[in-house]
Amino acid sequence: MSTARQIIALLKSYVEGEEQQFYSAALQMAAHEARQGHGKLAQEIRELVDQAKARSSAIERKTGPVPLVQPKGELANLLSARYPDTKLSDMVLSPELEFRLKRILTEQKQRSRLQSYNLSPRRKILLVGTPGSGKTMTAAALAGELQLPLLTTVYSSLIGKLMGETASRLKLIFDAMLLTRGVYFFDEFDAIGTQRNNVNDVGEIRRVLNSFLQLIESDESDSLIIAATNHPNLLDEALFRRFDDVIEYQPPTVEMIRRLLETRLSVFKIQWNDWSEILDAVQGLSLAEIVRAADEAAKQAVLSNTEEIGEENLLSAILERRDVNIQQLKKV
Ligand SMILES: Nc1ncnc2c1ncn2[C@@H]1O[C@H](COP(=O)(O)OP(=O)(O)O)[C@@H](O)[C@H]1O
Ligand SMILES: [Mg+2]
Repeated sequence: MSTARQIIALLKSYVEGEEQQFYSAALQMAAHEARQGHGKLAQEIRELVDQAKARSSAIERKTGPVPLVQPKGELANLLSARYPDTKLSDMVLSPELEFRLKRILTEQKQRSRLQSYNLSPRRKILLVGTPGSGKTMTAAALAGELQLPLLTTVYSSLIGKLMGETASRLKLIFDAMLLTRGVYFFDEFDAIGTQRNNVNDVGEIRRVLNSFLQLIESDESDSLIIAATNHPNLLDEALFRRFDDVIEYQPPTVEMIRRLLETRLSVFKIQWNDWSEILDAVQGLSLAEIVRAADEAAKQAVLSNTEEIGEENLLSAILERRDVNIQQLKKV
């Protein structure tokens, strides 16, 4: 039998994420077994190490102050990796959304405690909201708070021309989730299958979407899977079942919009006391558009060598955004 020392060395290297030490500890155990005359056992360990080496090469861990993960091989085209430093406190959230996002973080941070009672932390999340409501930012904030890589699926590489190609690439991504814990983000996931140019094979689209949903359902990794969609009509029973949480973004309240503008412009001197005209003007704009209007007014102030922002400046930036909106609506 292997000694407790060897098992400790094995566990230690695992905990510390030292892959090479992990393999060498395992191979030492194999050598130990071989010396004891347990040739079959030794062989079994060596084969497992070989298998592990082959699999773990899908995503490379680069050491440094923060160990970076970089997808390798085919996965490198399928996932774009980054380490966001976004925090939940950077976001303006309704009390309900804040509660639900914090609950995900708490469960993730305490996941070993939950798991020791056979309970699973929330980790398969569907975000539903109109463009610019903060879905991508939420995925980044969850990764930032948990200090995990944000691995976003690149659909242009995912969608293949050949039948079954897309499904097998999806499988690669789900295999990676088991090996490398991270926040795996499928933005506008309903676009899977419809992204392909000459789409007329409706059957293939449905197959791809179905295989995606099955992969989500059967996934038992420690990674977070976050899917985002602009289409609330996708919210049928079948979808609900596959996610631990479905989070809907409601239009921002007047209070949230004011908070967003105040934080965004906090380094400037605001020249108005009465917010009513501004808050009327932004009605119907998304949070993303409001941020852009605020940044526009701030830029103007900086370029005119002042830290003061006049109400007129902000209002005209807001009106400009509304115009852009109207132009876009006309085009559709
Ligand atoms: N809740 C929010 N709080 C603060 N800023 C926000 C929020 N939602 C959106 N934004 C701003 O709008 C930008 C775009 O939002 P994004 O997350 O890409 O929206 P979505 O993915 O829903 O289309 C963000 O980078 C951020 O500047
Ligand atoms: Mg987005």
